[in-house]
Amino acid sequence: MKIPNPQPTALRRSKVAGLRSPLPTLRDRPGQTSSSITSGAEPSEKIVISGCDYLGLSDDAVIREAWLKASANGPLQTGASRATTGDHPLYRRAEKAIADFLNEPAAVLTATGYLASLAVAQGLRDQATHVVVDASAHNCVQDGARLSGLPILSFASGDARALRSVLSNLPPSARPLVATDGVYGIRGGMAPLNEYLLALPTSGWLWVDDAHGLGSVGATGRGSPEFFSLRDSRLIRSVTFSKALGVAGGAVIGDASLMEHVRTRAGAYLGSSAPPLAIAAAIAAAVVRVDKLPGRVRRLQELARRFSNALPSRPEILNDSRTPVTAIHPRDAAQAQRLTEALTQAGFVPPWIRYPGGPGGGFFRIALKATHSRSQMDRLSRAIRVGLNE
Ligand SMILES: Cc1ncc(COP(=O)(O)O)c(C=O)c1O
Repeated sequence: MKIPNPQPTALRRSKVAGLRSPLPTLRDRPGQTSSSITSGAEPSEKIVISGCDYLGLSDDAVIREAWLKASANGPLQTGASRATTGDHPLYRRAEKAIADFLNEPAAVLTATGYLASLAVAQGLRDQATHVVVDASAHNCVQDGARLSGLPILSFASGDARALRSVLSNLPPSARPLVATDGVYGIRGGMAPLNEYLLALPTSGWLWVDDAHGLGSVGATGRGSPEFFSLRDSRLIRSVTFSKALGVAGGAVIGDASLMEHVRTRAGAYLGSSAPPLAIAAAIAAAVVRVDKLPGRVRRLQELARRFSNALPSRPEILNDSRTPVTAIHPRDAAQAQRLTEALTQAGFVPPWIRYPGGPGGGFFRIALKATHSRSQMDRLSRAIRVGLNE
């Protein structure tokens, strides 16, 4: 199905309403920050329901202070890979903070979440014999699998039986690296990690890219393994700090000897500089911040359930009340246009995107934030009903 991008119409309308630029700009205002869009002298509030700032930490004052202090008091960057001369105490401090937060033995910092995934696959390529990938895993997981140079097998997304069947066809000596997202970032929903782990032979590993799970799921926001109460030395996760944690940078987390493999074998770590020092300092502050603001995690999860309950049951809507992401795949261009108009009229910026793994023509990807209000979410579900002619 080819759906023309309805965004230009939405943006034209915003311009009519007084926006200086057809592209929304964000302005800091207490309590509203990243959900306000300026319109010159008269701010016209438009609620942003896109992106991945699930906990609303991207303008957190404490994290910002850590960032600013590090950039004011030291070099911006160490000028080399950490494996050569570029190491710094701030990197080690960030890694300790990440590992402590996730109750795991060790963490390895990378410049981005994408690189963290490449580093997992490269780090384990001498250990594993096959990579077995959930069909909906993010691009960086698929790219990592390819870069490992190992044979790649795929199984139907979210289907532990399909995984078992693939694993049962491997030779007894196989050491499979099973790879999946924890929370599927473009459509919401969670991989059944508990079942994946049960399917795994003792000689294998479960690699979870928890880019969208960190901060958003699990009772204390520690992500998909916390949600499923998993503790297992065969579990390796890659994360990004650019989503719920509001910063940037990535990490690989898990068993200390596996992290040593990442440090000594992964080109994505050995041949790439760590993030700027200010980012390392901000990451260390952000993981502590999640525990200082436990209400945010609870609130996000409560909003996700409330929103999910209020949505109509329709084939166009992909939603899972456990996660803050909802996708709407309109059946045709007319429906996409109606939804765009309904969302715009209700005061939302229509979250229309194109992204690898989503429908080629584009789709609406809604991301809730802990700083959204209940009434905004109720208005959003009503607007969706209107747009779908419910
Ligand atoms: C599932 C998943 N993993 C990894 C990444 C990459 O993270 P980063 O933006 O830090 O490179 C993304 C980013 O969109 C993602 O959705």
